[in-house]
Amino acid sequence: MKIRKFLLLPALALGVLVLANCSPKTGKSTAATTPQPEVHYTAAQLAEGQTIFTSHCGKCHQLFQPNEKSVAKWNSVLPTMFRKAKLTEEQGNLVRAFVMANVNK
Ligand code: HEC
Repeated sequence: MKIRKFLLLPALALGVLVLANCSPKTGKSTAATTPQPEVHYTAAQLAEGQTIFTSHCGKCHQLFQPNEKSVAKWNSVLPTMFRKAKLTEEQGNLVRAFVMANVNK
C-alpha cells in the first residue's frame, strides 16, 4: 500500500505535464503574429465558451465583443462579470478562453 501511494503522486504529476504539453493548438490566425502559450482549449470548448458568452453576457448591457476591449480590460472585468452572470468556474474558464482567443492583441 505504502509503495503504491508513493508511486501514484509522481505518476499523476507526470500525467498532468504530458496532458498540458499535448494540448491542441487552435487554428487562430493571430497565432502567426502573437505566441499564445496559454491557449489550451479545443475548438469545441471555444465554441461552448462562445455559446455561454452569447447567452449570458448580453443581459444587463450590450454584448461587448472580445475585440472591443483590451486584454487588460478583460482581465480586470471578467472575474466580476462571471459573478454577475452566476457562471460556474468551468463556464467562466470557457468564456475566458473564447474571449482571449478572439481579442485584438
Ligand atoms: C447582472 C448584470 C450583468 C451581467 C449578467 C454581466 N454584466 Fe458585464 N457589466 C455589468 C455592469 C453593471 C457593468 C458596469 C459596471 C462595472 O464595470 O462593474 C458591466 C461592465 C462590463 C464590461 C466593461 C465595459 C466597459 O467598457 O467598461 C464588460 C467588458 C462586461 N461587462 C462584460 C461582461 C461579460 C463578458 C459578461 C458575461 C460573463 C457580463 N458582462 C455579464 C453587468 C453585468
